[in-house]
Amino acid sequence: MAYPYKHERETRVLTEAFGDPAARTIEGWKKYGGYEALRQALGMAPNDVIEVVKASGLRGRGGAGFPTGVKWSFMPRDDSRQPHYLLINADESEPGAFKDRELLRWTPHQVIEGALIGAHAIRAKHVYIYMRGEFFEPAQIVGRAIEEAYEAGFAGPDMMGSGIGIDITLHLGAGAYICGEETGLMNSLEGRRGQPRIKPPFPAVMGAFSRPTTINNVETVSAVPHIMRRGAEWYRSIGTEKSPGTKLFNVSGHVVRRGNYELPLGFPMKDLIYDVCGGIRDGRELKAVIPGGSSVPILAASECDINLDYESVAAAGSMLGTASVIVMDDRTDIVKAVRRMVEFYSHESCGQCTPCREGTEWTAKIMRRIEAGEGTADDLDTLLEVGRNMTGTTICVLSDSCAAPVASSIAKFRDEYMARIRREVPAGALTV
Ligand SMILES: Cc1cc2nc3c(=O)[nH]c(=O)nc-3n(C[C@H](O)[C@H](O)[C@H](O)COP(=O)(O)O)c2cc1C
Ligand code: SF4
Repeated sequence: MAYPYKHERETRVLTEAFGDPAARTIEGWKKYGGYEALRQALGMAPNDVIEVVKASGLRGRGGAGFPTGVKWSFMPRDDSRQPHYLLINADESEPGAFKDRELLRWTPHQVIEGALIGAHAIRAKHVYIYMRGEFFEPAQIVGRAIEEAYEAGFAGPDMMGSGIGIDITLHLGAGAYICGEETGLMNSLEGRRGQPRIKPPFPAVMGAFSRPTTINNVETVSAVPHIMRRGAEWYRSIGTEKSPGTKLFNVSGHVVRRGNYELPLGFPMKDLIYDVCGGIRDGRELKAVIPGGSSVPILAASECDINLDYESVAAAGSMLGTASVIVMDDRTDIVKAVRRMVEFYSHESCGQCTPCREGTEWTAKIMRRIEAGEGTADDLDTLLEVGRNMTGTTICVLSDSCAAPVASSIAKFRDEYMARIRREVPAGALTV
């Protein structure tokens, strides 16, 4: 199977150039219409650029789905509080998520162009691309693309003869999940420990280096050049009314064809699994899906007849998040899968908040005990009680993210926990 695998039902906008190494160069990228949108945006007033993105209905792809144009409009409009900053969040490390690194690898100029347009819209003079330190190959590719953008006069002083100057810097993190949280990212960028900050003040008021700052995900800014070139109406013609546009669905787990698929928002989940991804491997049955990365509630197979847009997934009791779809077949050991997620959050907690620092470790300890066949029924009540205390009580939502898979899996797969507790683990359970 050629990589990246392409499916006929995809709507390839952001991923059109995936698989074409020539598109990594500035000349190659121009063949896909590259940098036309930047030229167009530099000829527009910043507020007008914001209005186009607002009209498109583009929502942030970093997880929360907040409208991007509205976020940009929070930045101060007078220049008295310059400099402003745009931070591009390229830290992607949620278990199940692997879409941003592919955008960075295949289409570095798409990310750079979108970032420069965004920076112009919010009157930022400097863009930082904050990238996960382990992304060695994407870092080299993006670093080279930034050099090319400077050489071509698309970045730096007097971009494309417009009189507007924006600098762009690639900053590598040291590989901590919490540095993807926006205020943790700002602290890390400033050379401090990557720990989230209490909000307010919000970044648009006091962000990086105590200046007004906007933070956007890689996929979010990648959509911007296309919206500028083809218009807000075109973008709205894809997807649903409240969730317009395409989305990269990064599918992992027990499907035949794992990978990244660009589809209109609102695409049916069953079609994604059974058609685009070729169904469940080895002809097995579907057991559960985590639709938006490991931090969102798990859905049982019976709840999976839904469309993949922000509203529909929320109505089903979960979240679209980063659209990192983790598919589990009927041999999946749910207790083991959730225990592994919990260990991740416990390891990545920055330790500032007691409910998170203590709660993630306590949850992991109980999960390990249950998995080992040494748990009791009371442990389930304790897990739920600890989870309640970890939710909505901390500086950032890492703590909530640890509690969500535990609570939802106990609600939907209690019999599996009980089988562990009674030492009757189903025969043939998979090691996930
Ligand atoms: C623990 C944690 C980790 C996060 N990691 C990422 C990440 O790796 N990449 C990302 O874009 N957003 C991440 N986010 C969300 C960001 O805080 C922020 O909402 C996002 O970058 C905003 O961009 P958007 O408006 O374009 O979606 C994370 C949030 C939390 C709480
Ligand atoms: S919730 Fe956890 S990760 Fe987030 S700030 Fe508090 S201790 Fe750190």
